[in-house]
Amino acid sequence: MNTRPPPCSDRWSRAPQKAPPPSRTRNIALIKYWGKRDERLVLPWTSSLSMTLDVFPTTTRVRLDPGAEHDTAALNGVPATGETLRRITAFLELVRERAGCDRRAVVDTRNTVPTGAGLASSASGFAALAVAAAAAYGLALDATALSRLARRGSGSASRSIFGGFAVWHAGRGTGTAADADLGSCAEPVPAAGIDPALVIAVVSAGPKAVSSREAMRRTVDTSPLYRPWAASSRDDLDAMRAALRRSDLDAVGEIAERNALGMHATMLAARPAVRYLSPATVTVLDSVLQLRRDGISAYATMDAGPNVKVLCRRADAPLVAQVVRGAVSQGSVLVAGPGDGARLLSEGA
Ligand code: PMV
Repeated sequence: MNTRPPPCSDRWSRAPQKAPPPSRTRNIALIKYWGKRDERLVLPWTSSLSMTLDVFPTTTRVRLDPGAEHDTAALNGVPATGETLRRITAFLELVRERAGCDRRAVVDTRNTVPTGAGLASSASGFAALAVAAAAAYGLALDATALSRLARRGSGSASRSIFGGFAVWHAGRGTGTAADADLGSCAEPVPAAGIDPALVIAVVSAGPKAVSSREAMRRTVDTSPLYRPWAASSRDDLDAMRAALRRSDLDAVGEIAERNALGMHATMLAARPAVRYLSPATVTVLDSVLQLRRDGISAYATMDAGPNVKVLCRRADAPLVAQVVRGAVSQGSVLVAGPGDGARLLSEGA
């Protein structure tokens, strides 16, 4: 049986075989995405809002291989297998469908942060893959279309297409009709008057025991706290947008912290419980409380892992980092600011 892919259209045969330049980026949510109403299309129950970071870039290169029968991918030089390769291939299928080309691809991804440790590696990974794969397959997509595409790889990736602050609108409905409009994609949120930093305490760089996909599913299906959190998260988003408009960092931080703690409460109430927070997480949370008692605006947020990100004013970041470093016996602390969205880099960048 001839399993070689049929040749692509002229457009594709003329496409340069040289890989397009790589693309990259990463974001941390201040209003969390937690729970899907449509698993296949990655449509969330609630809208979320994040800050794209200027650290930990993911750099991804996609090259079409006319002779290949399967996609291949390497993460930091190690060949991807199992679920990771399955997710990448499923994502590339979407791109191929849209491009009308079934050539297989070679994906090379470089992460500067541990994968699967609640440091948004999937957000940056799929945002970078969306931008790089769209370019490799010759799809001319605007940022909104790229955001919708990236969402299919990993929900949070939809926000990484944009720099600074971005909101991912949940949209309405389920099934293909719900995905046909522009309902569920991200867009930038202006926040000019705010000068924030995120102090990132990496207390554990190991991969998480339960994937965020599985943890979300379990929370939505079994946690009695999920619906109340989702309702309050909608209010949190409105309050957060208002706080950003008036450049009120304390309100932004308070809302972000309560939204994240609420999200973790929904998981703790799931059956069986999902607990990402560790004793080291709680130690860092205590140091954040102490900073506030000492008059420093510092607010914590945590994702699907034990690591803590502390929102503060950029001017306070060195002090906040010093205090957090004192609380982290093992691990590392670094300071991030708002960064650019996923983009194609020039060759050699
Ligand atoms: O995009 P996923 O499937 O990796 O889910 C991310 C979920 C959180 O990081 C916990 C929250 C968020 O909005 O990024």
